[in-house]
This record gives sequence, structure tokens and C-alpha cells, in this order.
Amino acid sequence: MSKPELNLEALKKLQLKVMQDVSASAIIPLMRIGDQLGIFKYLSNLGEVSSHELADKSSLDERYLREWLYATAAAGFTSYNSEANTFSLTPEQAAVFADDEGPASMMGAYDMLTGAIHNEDKVKEAFKTGDGVDYKDSCPICFQGTARFFKPSYEKNLVRSWLPKIDNLEEKMNAGASFADIGCGYGLSTMIIAQTFPNAHVCGYDIHEPSINEARKLAKKAGLGDRIEYNTADAKSYKGQHDYIAFFDCLHDMGDPVGAAKYAYNQLKDGGSVILIEPTANDNPEDNFNLFGQMYYCFSTIGCVPTSKSQEVGLALGAQAGPKKLIDVLNEAGFKNCKVVKKNASNMVIEARKN
Ligand SMILES: C[S@@+](CC[C@H](N)C(=O)[O-])C[C@H]1O[C@@H](n2cnc3c(N)ncnc32)[C@H](O)[C@@H]1O
Repeated sequence: MSKPELNLEALKKLQLKVMQDVSASAIIPLMRIGDQLGIFKYLSNLGEVSSHELADKSSLDERYLREWLYATAAAGFTSYNSEANTFSLTPEQAAVFADDEGPASMMGAYDMLTGAIHNEDKVKEAFKTGDGVDYKDSCPICFQGTARFFKPSYEKNLVRSWLPKIDNLEEKMNAGASFADIGCGYGLSTMIIAQTFPNAHVCGYDIHEPSINEARKLAKKAGLGDRIEYNTADAKSYKGQHDYIAFFDCLHDMGDPVGAAKYAYNQLKDGGSVILIEPTANDNPEDNFNLFGQMYYCFSTIGCVPTSKSQEVGLALGAQAGPKKLIDVLNEAGFKNCKVVKKNASNMVIEARKN
């Protein structure tokens, strides 16, 4: 069979897109090196420096540093002064790459990407068998990456714009309501809630024991050790009755989201709500074929779908399920009153009220 004739314009456009993605991906190991060796932090603290000055201060090899600096400057991630042959960070570059505690930090994304690459072999086998890959068998970089990746968004949005959309939440939390953060991972969202509402009773649960251990350590370090009750438990076995039961970026990872939502329905006190935070998505896949959709479908293929398939039922909603499928899950679990209460470019918040 003769090869079909190529549309050269379409070919060029596709190749350009591949080149953009290859170039963006090529920097992943450099970003991890820059993060782990503190190169971004040195640049942020030192101001404008030559590669030799940076090498002196950091005790790192000048030749490696110089190549790293050219690569990151080519990406627009560091700034180069060609007259002085020096490098620096703009305040914006420092905020995104050198300030892990700040709301603009995006370094966790490179942990997630690195973890995803390391998961390739296990997920490749799962493609053949249809089995899942248990979250605990993911590359450990994924665990810290997930926490770091979502943290800035929780810090920026959770208290300021997402939780205020939940009926009466502030009033009830200030009056001592009970809040359960299911699938809490390292518990960064749980800590924000405990800090914001000192009168509330706050619990975090996750099926993954190492994450719960890390959550306990972080809470202790933040002086919240006795304020948050963490337990290793899956979404169908935790104890207690709660006013709010939250699933922050985790319901779609669960094998049995309907079972988890039904269990939550039974664990909710009268007047309580489930709070679902999920990646923003549209109901039709083709409406997710954009920048965020590309990222989420990729993470979903390599992380969320394998995790869900490793558990009972294995529904594998995927990270771009969209509001209709998510609300169908909640309806099937018994929630009649569900709605999207907030949406931004990356996340949407759904409230499901018990009554
Ligand atoms: C993408 S991570 C999100 C973690 C955290 N909520 C955050 O936003 O950083 C998904 C989490 O769901 C947890 N998880 C998956 N299945 C679970 C289940 N059936 N019950 C409880 N937790 C589960 C995983 O262990 C993991 O910590």
C-alpha cells in the first residue's frame, strides 16, 4: 500500500508541538538537580553571579553549573546578563523555583514528572494485563511530589475561595465541627484546615501508611501534633461521625468511589456535606484537549487509573472525569443535593449535602 501524502503544513505544526514538548521535558532532570542541590536557592540568595562565583559559594563543579545555567536560561527559568556573563533570578523566577513555602512554587511538578517516568515499567505491564498498580508501589518521589504539587494551590485557594463556598462551613467549624480529610496524603490540606479553625476537630485518613507517618511528622513540626488525628484507613473503614468529609484530589484515585461516597454518607452527621475537590474537566473528552487536559490525562494514565484499578471495583474514573460523572457517583451513593460550587483553571469544588 502506498503511503498517504503528507500535508506539510500539518506535519510542520505537529513537529513543532513535539519539539516544544521535548524541550520542556528535557529540563526535568535539571530542575530536580537544581532543586535538590539548592542551586535555585543559591541564585536567589546571592543575586547576580558568574558560574565561577556560584561554584565557589555552592561547592559544586563550575563546568556542570555553567551548562545547567545555560539550559535554564534558555528555558527562561534563570536570567543571563550577556555583558557581564552573569546569572540571576528575577523575583518571579525566585518565587516559582526557589521558595518552596511560597504560594507561587511549582517545583513539586518536577517531582511528579520524575516519579511518573519511574512508574513506566509497572504501568506498561498493567496495560497488558489490565491489572492495577497499588499506590504504595509507585516510585516514592510521587508521594512527596503530589504533596508539593498541590500545596500552593491549597494555600492559595482552600481557605480563601473554596471552603467559603460550602454552606455554613465557617460558622460550624468555628463552633467546633468535625472535619475528616479522606485520602489526605501528607496532610498539607489537613494542616491548613486545623490552623484556620482552631476550634474544629480535624482528622486525616489515608490508605497509604508511609504518607500518614509523614503527615504526623509534618503536623508535629508545625505544632499541630495534638490538633490533628491521623489514621491509616481506607475510604470505607475510617471511624467517627463528621460534619464535613472531604476528598481532596483523591476520589478518582479510589477503586470504589461509589462505595467511598456511600460510606461518607453514613459517616456524615445530619446537615453535613461531602466536599469534593477534583481537577477541573469538562464532561466531553474533546473539551479537555488543552494544556491542563494533556497534563491531567498523562498523570491519570500513569498514576490515577493504575491506583484505582489496583483496588476493589477498580472503576478508574480518571483525573478528567468531569462534573457529570462525579455527580453521578455522588447521586448513586445517596446524595441528592450536589453541585459544583467553584471552579478555576485547575480545580473544581463539588458540595454534596446529606440533607
Ligand atoms: C493524588 S493523592 C492526593 C493526596 C492529598 N489529598 C493531596 O491533595 O495532596 C491521592 C491519595 O489518595 C489516597 N488513596 C487512594 N485510594 C484510597 C482509598 N481507597 N482510601 C483512602 N485513601 C486512598 C492515596 O494513598 C493518596 O494519598
